Amino acid sequence: MSEFTTYSSDGGVAVITMNNPPVNGLGFGVRKGLIEGLKKALDDKSVKAIVVTGSGKAFSGGADIKEFNTPKMSAEPSLHAVIAAIESAEKPVIAAVHSVAMGGGLELALGCHYRVAVPGAQIALPEVKLGLLPGAGGTQRLPRVIGVEPALNMIVSGNPVPSEKFANTKLFDELIQGELIPGAIAFAKKIADQRPLPKVRDLKIDYPNHEAFFQFARNTVGAVARNFPAPMKCLECVAAAVTMKFEDGVKFEREQFAYLVQTTESKALRHAFFGERAASKIPDVPEDTPTRTIKSAAVVGAGTMGGGIAMNFANAGIPVTVLETKQEALDKGLATVRKNYENSMKKGRLTPDKFEQRVGLIKGTLTYDDIKNADIVIEAVFEEMGVKEMVFKKLDEVMKPGAILASNTSTLDVNKIAAFTKRPQDVIGTHFFSPANVMKLLEVVRGAKTGKDVLATTMALSKKIKKTGVVSGVCDGFIGNRMIEQYSRQAGFLLEEGCLPEQVDKAVEKFGFAMGPFRMGDLAGNDIGWAIRKRRYAERPNMVYSKTADLLCEMGRFGQKTGAGWYDYKPGDRRPNPSSLVNDMIVKHSKDIGVERRKIGDQEIVERLVYALVNEAAYILEEGIAQRASDVDMVYLTGYGFPLYRGGPMLYADTVGLSNVVSAMEKYAKGRNGQFWKPAPLLAKLAAEGKTFN
Ligand SMILES: NC(=O)c1ccc[n+]([C@@H]2O[C@H](COP(=O)([O-])OP(=O)(O)OC[C@H]3O[C@@H](n4cnc5c(N)ncnc54)[C@H](O)[C@@H]3O)[C@@H](O)[C@H]2O)c1
Repeated sequence: MSEFTTYSSDGGVAVITMNNPPVNGLGFGVRKGLIEGLKKALDDKSVKAIVVTGSGKAFSGGADIKEFNTPKMSAEPSLHAVIAAIESAEKPVIAAVHSVAMGGGLELALGCHYRVAVPGAQIALPEVKLGLLPGAGGTQRLPRVIGVEPALNMIVSGNPVPSEKFANTKLFDELIQGELIPGAIAFAKKIADQRPLPKVRDLKIDYPNHEAFFQFARNTVGAVARNFPAPMKCLECVAAAVTMKFEDGVKFEREQFAYLVQTTESKALRHAFFGERAASKIPDVPEDTPTRTIKSAAVVGAGTMGGGIAMNFANAGIPVTVLETKQEALDKGLATVRKNYENSMKKGRLTPDKFEQRVGLIKGTLTYDDIKNADIVIEAVFEEMGVKEMVFKKLDEVMKPGAILASNTSTLDVNKIAAFTKRPQDVIGTHFFSPANVMKLLEVVRGAKTGKDVLATTMALSKKIKKTGVVSGVCDGFIGNRMIEQYSRQAGFLLEEGCLPEQVDKAVEKFGFAMGPFRMGDLAGNDIGWAIRKRRYAERPNMVYSKTADLLCEMGRFGQKTGAGWYDYKPGDRRPNPSSLVNDMIVKHSKDIGVERRKIGDQEIVERLVYALVNEAAYILEEGIAQRASDVDMVYLTGYGFPLYRGGPMLYADTVGLSNVVSAMEKYAKGRNGQFWKPAPLLAKLAAEGKTFN
């Protein structure tokens, strides 16, 4: 027997148990073990029926992700072959389902003659979430056992449904209330002699009005799926289950699967899936690095960020105390938090119980004495080194030994902040994104002296509060904002050379960004960038940057909060309206600096903005600020609204081809402000070698 399956037989029933922790992924070893077990059971005359199940925490979670992109993935026996062998077996095969039956795991169960399950098992075909479809008969068999509409919902959404919901369907022949295996064996004995053996493939689908239904579904799914082809392909496969013979439907399903696997959208989704996992790995901080216990937290500053950060802890069940200097600021901050939770409750996303529980976990204080015992404290006060210095000196004085001292700074030097304390090993940057209770990204900034256990604890915490933690080294702007500076710089140049804000935003939004740079500026507040630029103009007098954004701020147009920014806003309406005042200012500015405005196409706009990100990221990678290209992609997918179906700036550049990216940059280098288009050495090298970032 393979080490991935075990075999036992007792009283005429053989039990084959998959054993491939953590979720019995259907890797090569499991597939081989299933075939061997089946053969053994079929050869053994004393065996009358065969139960297939999984050990540990799952029946089976589907494909073994460890095998993705390896030859083992497609090595025979394939999942198709295993299912065919089970389905054509001359003795009844019963799937005994518990905990999780997903993807290939569910398809395997559907290939068995019978299925029994315990209540509470999670049943799903989640392939669509990776831009794929269930390719081992799932789209053809599931509609035959639970009906077309429920099957379509499951396959198009990929969401799990608890097993008891299928009590009266052909998916499960019996729901077992007691222990699964004895129940499955008893069931097997009961049906052992029944012939012919039932096969899901033989079930007829009777759906008289299917054409009207599928037409309706096409409209709905098409509207939701937008740039992703997989949901529609899932739908067409389910339609094929109704209109085609089983064999033809399976063939059609395979063809659609083969098509989807090579789409950039599926590649992007798989990249993001693996990128999320990769981001949590730090080469010199092994997974068994001891972590510190986080049972309580504190936040200093109850402003825009502090309140949202506190909510993250409360949502994870960790009590948190928020410290402010003045009662008024504290009251205001806590009132905002309460309001956010009330809104969630009104929208039905939070029960009244949970509301009370979460609000109850957040306390306010004006004294450090109330936070000194917290396991972690996150500072979110004004972005001024002097204020940070005061706060960190105080934290160093009062916090218990071993507490993690984190800063939410977005631009300041975390090493300098750490040096304000006598325990720099306990200091780390936790850069949340606004709104901090919503945005998935958390840049975890590793200072020169940050302890490995502090880093490991903070990464584990980011998972606990449901963030995508990405490690960044210390530099101005860390990964995300350092890159966005180059993007914003190009956006400003585009205005000077001939674009208006609306044209730039539209081009970038058509590319797939959630928001173009100028709408984004109006949302975040143009004054924030203005303050940063003023600091930089002082630090680097030769900095080249379009003055348009400064002129805008000088007009008092800070964005939505002042009712006017790059666009005009009507009261209570966030929709942007082009502003003739701003557009005149831009055109006049071009004239003032002697630039003849020209017509600029969408392709140039997108290339200049996106390649500016890519080139800066190449420097960031070379300097070791980011650990890997997929980390950069995760930052942009989870924090900056980069289109998921393109997989992030680095995967996008890989898809375009790095030599094409470099050629475009060489072209722009001949234009105005061409000095910004020198390819980073890493980019130039990879392009010359025909390689990719990812
Ligand atoms: N706003 C954003 O989008 C954003 C995003 C990421 C990071 N950040 C960073 O987060 C930090 C906070 O930013 P914000 O936007 O929440 O600022 P904010 O001005 O909204 O809030 C700061 C709060 O800190 C309080 N405060 C000031 N000094 C204090 C002290 N000594 N002790 C206790 N409280 C004090 C103020 O009363 C105020 O309520 C900054 O470092 C900023 O760079 C901001």
